[in-house]
Amino acid sequence: MKRVRTAVFPVAGLGTRFLPATKALPKEMLTVVDRPLIQYAVDEAREAGIEHFVFVTGRNKGVIEDHFDRQFELETTLEARGKTHALAELRKDLPSAGRTSFTRQQEPLGLGHAVWCARDIVGDNPFALLLPDMLFRGQPGVLKQMMDTYEQTGGNVIAVEEVPPADISSYGVVARGEGPDNSFAITDMVEKPRREDAPSNLIISGRYILQPEIFGLLANQTRGAGGEIQITDGMKALLKDQAFTGVKYRGQSFDCGSKIGFLTANVVYALDREDIKDGFLTELKKLNLEARL
Ligand code: G1P
Repeated sequence: MKRVRTAVFPVAGLGTRFLPATKALPKEMLTVVDRPLIQYAVDEAREAGIEHFVFVTGRNKGVIEDHFDRQFELETTLEARGKTHALAELRKDLPSAGRTSFTRQQEPLGLGHAVWCARDIVGDNPFALLLPDMLFRGQPGVLKQMMDTYEQTGGNVIAVEEVPPADISSYGVVARGEGPDNSFAITDMVEKPRREDAPSNLIISGRYILQPEIFGLLANQTRGAGGEIQITDGMKALLKDQAFTGVKYRGQSFDCGSKIGFLTANVVYALDREDIKDGFLTELKKLNLEARL
């Protein structure tokens, strides 16, 4: 079984749900406390053993490339001011030289098409796919949990979670077959079904381990839900030939593509931080939130 060394991050989306913030700023650079969303996804991938990071970008996304580069002027200034901790933190966040690739999705044709744009860089290898909108708080991270399953099963692995019926039609949904929570067979999947047509309440959470045969299927994929080329449709086609294993991950997710998820993530992650927690709680108490609930 081939080890998963490469991760793909689709970051070409227009971020229309976050306008005007995302008019000039990529949505993946929105911060939860003081780290951009894309940094959390890269950290999760590194924890899972990923060595090469492929970003599928688009127009207006150049700052993501800058974020994963050295910033000599800043670093020299931090050094001169003796801010060694901040400097060490910045350097720690950076993948090592030659371990990032950037390619462009030239037209917004959908997630499946964005992934297909990475085919030459990924080559004939299994790869992880991480949607940076989805932020996970869990130990170990969700991709690491999936890698543990992959080492047993091989094939394709998808992280799933339960959502309330009202939210199902916003996501890809899987049908669950035999097996325990951390390794069950997926027997079907459908992108953004109507609530009454959904095969379960288990949604695709934005973390995947996929075999390279997906690229050939995506090349011929017709447009699906929302008129877009959908990764879920490509996976459903691959399911005819290859196994897909579901992992109901342990942890908490925040859909930072939605304002509520994003704002909640900021509160939870701020309260996780020893350096911020006390001051933040003091301010929250002053807001007298109880009275508004
Ligand atoms: C995408 C996928 C969907 C998945 C979701 C997770 O949808 O197509 O299957 O459930 O991400 O966030 P999008 O959010 O791009 O509409």
